[in-house]
Amino acid sequence: MSVFYPVFLDLRGRRAVVIGGGAVAEQKVRGLLAAGAHVTVVSPDMSPGLADLARRSAIELRRRRYHDHDLAGAWLAIAATDDRAVNEAVYAEAERLGVPLNAVDDLEHCSFIAPAIHREGDITVAVSTGGKSPALAVRLRQRIARLVGRVEARLCELLGELRPDLAERVPDARARTALWYAIVDSDVIEFVRRGDIDGARGRIEELISEVGPVESRLKPRLGPAAEAAVPVYGQSRAASSLADSETGTVYLVGAGPGDPGLITTRGLELLRSADVVVYDRLVSPALVAEAPASAERVFVGKHPNDTATRQQDINALLVDRARRGRTVIRLKGGDSFVFGRGAEECEALRAAGVPFQVIPGVTSATAVPAAAGIPVTHRRVASAFAVVAGHECEGRSDLDWDALARVPTLVVLMGLSALPDIVARLRAQGMAPDTPAAVIASGTLPEQRTVVGTLADIADLAAAAALAPPAIVVIGEVVRVGLTLPVRELVSRA
Ligand SMILES: C[S@@+](CC[C@H](N)C(=O)[O-])C[C@H]1O[C@@H](n2cnc3c(N)ncnc32)[C@H](O)[C@@H]1O
Repeated sequence: MSVFYPVFLDLRGRRAVVIGGGAVAEQKVRGLLAAGAHVTVVSPDMSPGLADLARRSAIELRRRRYHDHDLAGAWLAIAATDDRAVNEAVYAEAERLGVPLNAVDDLEHCSFIAPAIHREGDITVAVSTGGKSPALAVRLRQRIARLVGRVEARLCELLGELRPDLAERVPDARARTALWYAIVDSDVIEFVRRGDIDGARGRIEELISEVGPVESRLKPRLGPAAEAAVPVYGQSRAASSLADSETGTVYLVGAGPGDPGLITTRGLELLRSADVVVYDRLVSPALVAEAPASAERVFVGKHPNDTATRQQDINALLVDRARRGRTVIRLKGGDSFVFGRGAEECEALRAAGVPFQVIPGVTSATAVPAAAGIPVTHRRVASAFAVVAGHECEGRSDLDWDALARVPTLVVLMGLSALPDIVARLRAQGMAPDTPAAVIASGTLPEQRTVVGTLADIADLAAAAALAPPAIVVIGEVVRVGLTLPVRELVSRA
């Protein structure tokens, strides 16, 4: 087992020499420049990126093969060549001069190895496999990236800012260390996750007061970072934090079209800090499971035709839980503002003086066709698309079908049962019967099914395939484009 001593080097203003001019060398050079090093590159050939850096005098270039003495004055060196004889010569010089050398993919000629790095703000995590598997190191780094993100970086920034004050207020080093652990192990991060920096400071203040009587002057000194919180409507951010007796915030989070991986990172962060989750029928159970075990879960979806859980009841529920000081996540399929009644909920919250924030979601209107390989626009065939609700045309419709029949791509949500009606209206407005059409059911989910036909036969094909909601209908030439992009197996083809 090779044992390497891990360090983070301060390269600012120091000379680093890179031997090699290919893509790997370029990547190394960019890393060194980002760390503030002065970089010299030695290579007869150059990647376009390196040539560009040299043109802009960002690096010094020696456009020739490596010579002994090229490492003179170097503080660090990297050999990014695929020539082991060159690596060997560079290594010999590096050892002679005492310059640390990394020879890429050539462990034998390395006196240091480069870890896979995950950086988020001031946090850097370096992963090494002792040079045995850079690929594994990259995958491990990606896993770490999922654990250490924006929220941790923001927390780190806040703790760094509080550090001098805390050192003054808790002079005993052991008590201070215990306090730091109490802070990082506490729910302070949940306040940060919600963007409630005032709340985080308040919670830290509570923890400080628990370690003993200290002069309470931390808060007034905290400065402007408190204003970095995201905007919240309906009430000022400052009024929405801290004590349970105060009103909590409602976050309308778009859960995406079905696949739980398609929620936004912000949405997921908030969900993981929820006190209450109010969710709809189309929200993936895997997402609901992301809320803390202690969170109250309220299902308000039932069935599309079920009027038992009326919108007013949902509004009242959101207001009630927020007034109890809870952080409420209103989780809706797709995007809350696309046929999601999100605006009505915002109106009710505003009227009740409850702070709220909208976290956009990936709407099924574009994501479901995309998951089936159908682009809703295409430079050659469709420069506009319309999204309509199909359920409103069973028998009657206020939509302008004449105009809709002329839109290049029509995306119909909630249109499966009304499909024969929709087809009839479009044909009555002159849409050609051979216009391509598709129905995609359970888009982005493992059970996704797609039926493709034309305006003339799509309703029959969908019925014959026994497609069930949720489903999206796409009508227009883009469906034909989709046939050339076999993203998923089609159930049937026209
Ligand atoms: C009440 S609307 C809500 C739309 C949602 N707010 C959005 O942005 O995707 C529900 C309709 O969205 C469509 N839909 C949602 N998820 C879907 C999916 N995974 N596959 C197909 N259609 C879907 C269906 O037409 C369904 O009837």
